[in-house]
Amino acid sequence: MVQLLREHPKAFLVAETDSRKVVGYCVCSTERRLAHLISIGVLREYRRRKVATSLIQESLDQLSSKVREVWLEVNTANEEAVKFYEEFGFKGIMIIDNYYSDGSPALRMRLTLNHASQEGAAPPRESTS
Ligand SMILES: CC(C)(COP(=O)(O)OP(=O)(O)OC[C@H]1O[C@@H](n2cnc3c(N)ncnc32)[C@H](O)[C@@H]1OP(=O)(O)O)[C@@H](O)C(=O)NCCC(=O)NCCS
Repeated sequence: MVQLLREHPKAFLVAETDSRKVVGYCVCSTERRLAHLISIGVLREYRRRKVATSLIQESLDQLSSKVREVWLEVNTANEEAVKFYEEFGFKGIMIIDNYYSDGSPALRMRLTLNHASQEGAAPPRESTS
């Protein structure tokens, strides 16, 4: 998480409790009219309380005026995350073999933001992380 914060300081959101304990985070990057949701996570004991929902909604609100699509990659075995993303309208568009360092595949998912600018979005660069 610290490395992500260093790499994407402007696109990093955290969720805190009233006592300022950080219980979740979400990080995105943007390139032209395309956003990439790089990572989202919530402490196990705070899951299923809509923490990630709040984080992604805030991220999408911030991105909606700047981009027209949001892309992400998720491990195909991570069914709970796939379900979570589907709740927001993300659709699986392709499987990328050997995406993760252990050789497991990723599902690339895409969300189209209807109200953003209609200028063209560049496809995301492949990442090996
Ligand atoms: C995926 C993750 C971020 C969801 O965080 P969360 O705060 O628990 O999610 P929310 O409470 O906002 O869930 C919203 C909806 O997503 C779906 N969802 C979330 N977790 C789910 C699960 N374990 N199983 C099935 N559906 C799930 C549900 O529809 C849920 O609504 P509901 O609770 O009313 O049924 C969290 O499980 C997590 O941190 N996982 C480990 C890290 C990870 O896999 N990140 C994604 C890849 S980078």
